[in-house]
Amino acid sequence: MFRVAILTLSDKGSRGEREDLSAGVIRELVEQQGWQVGDYRVIPDDYDVIKEALVDLVDRGKYDLILTTGGTGLGPRDNTPEATQAVIDKEVPGLAEAMRMESLKKTNRAMLSRAVAGIRGSTLIVNLPGSPKGVRECLEAILPALPHGLEILTGRGGECGAQ
Ligand code: MTE
Repeated sequence: MFRVAILTLSDKGSRGEREDLSAGVIRELVEQQGWQVGDYRVIPDDYDVIKEALVDLVDRGKYDLILTTGGTGLGPRDNTPEATQAVIDKEVPGLAEAMRMESLKKTNRAMLSRAVAGIRGSTLIVNLPGSPKGVRECLEAILPALPHGLEILTGRGGECGAQ
């Protein structure tokens, strides 16, 4: 069982002007894995605010996995990838590559996502797009590999040669 935090980046959502349907999709898929969502926050698209939330969830919350949704596109307030880059120790580029590769089969707009994934301490942070559809498609693309990655990352076994 892994402990997961969901971080929604949305100016409108943080002001209560938009219902957050994407977090519900994340929760559904995470709970299907038997994992537990222990924290859920909706915050504005401010670079510093995102950075602070990520650092708090990792360093204090000690979550195994943080899934962000929103703020990965080309808009002036899309700061999620930069804030994530600023707090991670190592990038895990294959996860973002896999998400874009699978998503491109469904929409050519997938190439507009600048999502990144990386590790801070023993926490994996993955950026997902903002729409519920995008969240589902991206998370489904990486979920098959996540249990093994999280086992290795958190030191809970996992034999790389097994498969
Ligand atoms: N990825 C998938 N799988 N499905 C989608 O519908 N939408 C794209 C892209 N990635 C999409 C997707 C669009 S339209 C944009 S603008 C970018 O994600 C960035 O979205 P964000 O700014 O909401 O994070």
